[in-house]
Amino acid sequence: MTQGKKWEGNDLSEAIKAIQAGELVAFPTETVYGLGADATNSEAVKKVFKAKGRPLDNPLIVHIATPSDLTPYVLNFPKIAERIMAHFWPGPLTLIFDLIPGTLPPEVTAGGSTCSFRIPKHEATLELIRKSGKPLVGPSANTSGKPSPTTADHVLHDLGERISGVVDGGQTEVGLESTVLDLTVNPPMILRPGAVTPKDLEKIIGEVGLDPHLMNETEKPKSPGMKYKHYAPSVEVKMIDFNRQNWQEAIASARIKNQRIGILSSKMISDALPLAEDVVVFNLSDTGELDQSMHQLFSGLRYLDQVTPKLDIIFIETFKEEELGIAYMNRVRKSANQQYFISGEE
Ligand code: TXA
Ligand code: MG
Repeated sequence: MTQGKKWEGNDLSEAIKAIQAGELVAFPTETVYGLGADATNSEAVKKVFKAKGRPLDNPLIVHIATPSDLTPYVLNFPKIAERIMAHFWPGPLTLIFDLIPGTLPPEVTAGGSTCSFRIPKHEATLELIRKSGKPLVGPSANTSGKPSPTTADHVLHDLGERISGVVDGGQTEVGLESTVLDLTVNPPMILRPGAVTPKDLEKIIGEVGLDPHLMNETEKPKSPGMKYKHYAPSVEVKMIDFNRQNWQEAIASARIKNQRIGILSSKMISDALPLAEDVVVFNLSDTGELDQSMHQLFSGLRYLDQVTPKLDIIFIETFKEEELGIAYMNRVRKSANQQYFISGEE
């Protein structure tokens, strides 16, 4: 198969044609790159699942350009939706509404009665939606289970041979996927944490729930996608507790086992460590800024996953689980399969 093309954001003509022909086009957003297809075309939507290797029970987000694009699809429009949209759209927030039955192919909602929508904050992609005249489904443009792509090269690495092309918008601004907010329940509930935090939402609409599974691993997630193993490199990842900061012990214990080590941390942390030459470091931030760390997290996981010869273990920085830290830690916990390095461990 031929390799998908990389298009500049100011020349969308081929990308528009491909969308209209029911083909796959990856697009940049402020969060991560999406794998785009015409949301009204059942065959095109099926191709998205196939290209990603995505389980069919996992519904897709529909990307639109303006709030009035919702009108043909949304059944019950809660009053607070107006306020939320005015405040956060375009932006990293996905909203779940009841769908008017039969208005979108069943694959989009995985057969469910609700559908999620968002207006991404990226001019080239808004232009692609407007000019193609189609709402676009857009799961993250990675192979299912891998970290979401934050550059066009990440997309081509995973899906290059399965898509017509990718609109190159440079490295994405936020770096983590959008907050998913379910507006079909009262109070609205966050199903996936992102850059729009519970506090941000509460300031605008009052009480907001958090899917219990986000705080308690034994609960079943309400968003199908959250149950899958995710963000996972093929190398073992262990978290370093931000209270303990036991990096040195972690490194020493891996050394004893002759393991090849990767470090994913701020520069401040890695600079202070006595590291052997073969330890591979990827810095997430300068001095532990959370927004920078979110921005770099998926690039870092991908980078360390591809080091040759292969690493045996990656140690990763953690943050307190509040505000933006909730979203960061949600992804980090999944990449580490919930495992912290415990001092005294073998
Ligand atoms: O930032 C983002 O949201 C990116 C960019 C490209 O927009 N997209 C993205 O899509 O992350 P995806 O498909 O990788 O993640 C969508 C998440 C999944 O966990 C899915 O289960 C959930 O949203 N979801 C979608 N529709 C839903 C629905 N109707 N009910 C419950 N969860 C839903
Ligand atoms: Mg995804």
